[in-house]
Amino acid sequence: MRMGRLLAVGTAILCFAPSGAALAKVSASADGKLLRLDGGGVTYAMGVDDKGYLQPLYWGAALDAGAPLAAKVPGELSGFDPAGSITAQEYAGQGEGLVSEPGVKAMFADGNRDLVLKYRGHKVSGETLTVELADIRRPLSVTLRYTMDPTTGVIARSASVRNGDAQPVRIDQMAAATFTLPTGDDYRLHYLTGRHGAEWSQASVAVTPALTVLESRRGSTGHGNQPWFAVGRSGTSETDGPVWYGALAWSGSFQLSVGADNLSRVRISGGYNPYDFSWTLKPGETLDTPVFYAGYSAQGMGDASRRFHAFQRASIIPGGAKAKIRPVLYNSWEATTFNVTEAGQMALAEKAAKIGVERFVVDDGWFGARDDDKAGLGDWSVNPKKFPNGLKPLIDKVKSLGMDFGLWVEPEMVNANSDLYRAHPDWVLHFPDRPRTEGRNQLVLNLARADVRDHILGWLDRLVRDNDIAFLKWDYNRNWTEGGWPGVPPQDQQRVQVEYVRNLYHILTELRRRHPGLEIEGCSGGGGRIDLGIMGVTDQSWTSDNTDPFDRLTIQDGFTQAYAPSIMMAWVTDSPNWANGRETSLDYRFLSAMQGSLGIGSNLDHWQQGDFDTVRTWIAAYKEIRATVQRGDLYRIAPPRPDSATSATLYVAPDKRQAVLFQMLHSSMFRDNVGAVALDGLDPARTYKVRMLDGAALPDGVPGLASGAYWMRAGVRVKMKGDYKGLGLVFEAVK
Ligand code: GLA
Repeated sequence: MRMGRLLAVGTAILCFAPSGAALAKVSASADGKLLRLDGGGVTYAMGVDDKGYLQPLYWGAALDAGAPLAAKVPGELSGFDPAGSITAQEYAGQGEGLVSEPGVKAMFADGNRDLVLKYRGHKVSGETLTVELADIRRPLSVTLRYTMDPTTGVIARSASVRNGDAQPVRIDQMAAATFTLPTGDDYRLHYLTGRHGAEWSQASVAVTPALTVLESRRGSTGHGNQPWFAVGRSGTSETDGPVWYGALAWSGSFQLSVGADNLSRVRISGGYNPYDFSWTLKPGETLDTPVFYAGYSAQGMGDASRRFHAFQRASIIPGGAKAKIRPVLYNSWEATTFNVTEAGQMALAEKAAKIGVERFVVDDGWFGARDDDKAGLGDWSVNPKKFPNGLKPLIDKVKSLGMDFGLWVEPEMVNANSDLYRAHPDWVLHFPDRPRTEGRNQLVLNLARADVRDHILGWLDRLVRDNDIAFLKWDYNRNWTEGGWPGVPPQDQQRVQVEYVRNLYHILTELRRRHPGLEIEGCSGGGGRIDLGIMGVTDQSWTSDNTDPFDRLTIQDGFTQAYAPSIMMAWVTDSPNWANGRETSLDYRFLSAMQGSLGIGSNLDHWQQGDFDTVRTWIAAYKEIRATVQRGDLYRIAPPRPDSATSATLYVAPDKRQAVLFQMLHSSMFRDNVGAVALDGLDPARTYKVRMLDGAALPDGVPGLASGAYWMRAGVRVKMKGDYKGLGLVFEAVK
């Protein structure tokens, strides 16, 4: 194909991070056969071949504007691999000889299941490119959307399918995007997996023709697999080598598949999970996918995650750059469980205020007949025995102590033993005349129903309007079973998988719109529903119910591979820890929790005077460094690993004027001398003064003042002894 002249049709100039990223530019050749997105040091290109297929051409480090990219029609490899089936497609219909995961799979009213999508046109508008594909015979079209972030090079991709026919068309599978990597056979997929209390475990597997599927069939994101991937090559490490990464912004059942074909072409496809999916498109109707965000780094897993964190802070998390720093919160759950009372909470609030807590949160048990987890969910009126005068006296007290007030809710659930369920047994997900399996004694309300959606939004709106509530902890404590939606025609019942999640987003979005000051924490039995979708409508995330400070280091290390530390809540709780019985010092618990957004979940009634003094010191110290932890760049200097006695995490402020190093010793293993820890990300030319985070004297051998170059080359060497010890060092630029 003749190379077309590149014509810049959509160029945007934005403010850049100090790292100095390139401009984001969407460009198309004059003949429309080459489409490119350039930004953040990344180029993404696709092209139309002479048969009209849209082919992926390139995704990686920035190419110069005249790079000779062009889509070519491949020849037939053999009778077993005809040209059509070996053409790499940007977004394929299930038809012709396609043998890889399709973008979209459809069945027309007459039973035809052959869908072949070819390029029809494109449009550039600012930083957004839309490409129109259509079937070669039938009036079924797909619109692909691309936007590239100019600072990080993160691409946002999504798709819409439209039925232009006079008959309905059934869509059986639909991806938001398929990404294609340069051909190779040395790729490794990194992913995050786990279960309740043990979320965010890191795993990796070679990318081969054996397709790897990361998915949730649970109705929500789930604890099992994250809708996130990072793919590196054989030499890729934390600090070096190429990484392609991304995450689907969807809080329902999802599927991400990663695999190579018999020609070593690697594809990553992600979207709705086809296992219980079908959507019958009526004539003229359109189905949209969620957004699949993805990026590239040439500098290892560390740089990849820092880019993704920066993108999330700027473009996903509500408020963007203007989002508030997370306040230090106290949550009474581990202290009181369901035994909440006005007097008991007031006593805790007084103690919390004295140690520097800024937000006081009452967890489960404040409503309905909620004395344990067997009853009350769904009945969201204040329990009159526990709070005889409503929530107002407690809220007034909390506010008079200088804190704001937060409350736990679990709006999507109902106990069978509740007034709501007795009144509306048809409001839950179910199939008629089939069992309704309970989880934690509760059933899932069918948010896909408009009446359920409106009911939930209505009581939440009243609750927040009638009480001075600054914060909601929004919980979701079971997965779907029998996910049926009777009440709509059978061919529309599987829409529940999509409509449920859309209505969840609608409720959260509308609640926030009506109450602009309200902040929300996403929680699902810990980290069972964390993804870029829920992140766009919540302010922070509860990553795990496992609050053991040592386990938490691994959980935090896994979480931050994908998501920004600014939303990662971390609590200091009691020792021995409820989850595993491990005993640790208060200092160690703080040093672990201060690596995210700090909360306190201890039973303050059990603390001694000395504990209060210790805690006051740590919370004050945290407030001096939290902007760096929450908004800075995270360097995983030495990640916590089972075969290592130590770990070290470093946060560097965006202006590089402050850095905080957390060094943890899990087991002395007869070694009392931890090796030097070389810092990263500092300004080599600046001089940094170092101090202990808790105000103690600097350990022997650590100079008080040195250049960024010194700290990054010679490093810090601190003698530590014992099990579950830690220290924090703060580096402040003096010039
Ligand atoms: C879930 C949450 C906990 C707590 C309880 C309350 O398990 O993860 O933090 O809120 O529910 O029932």
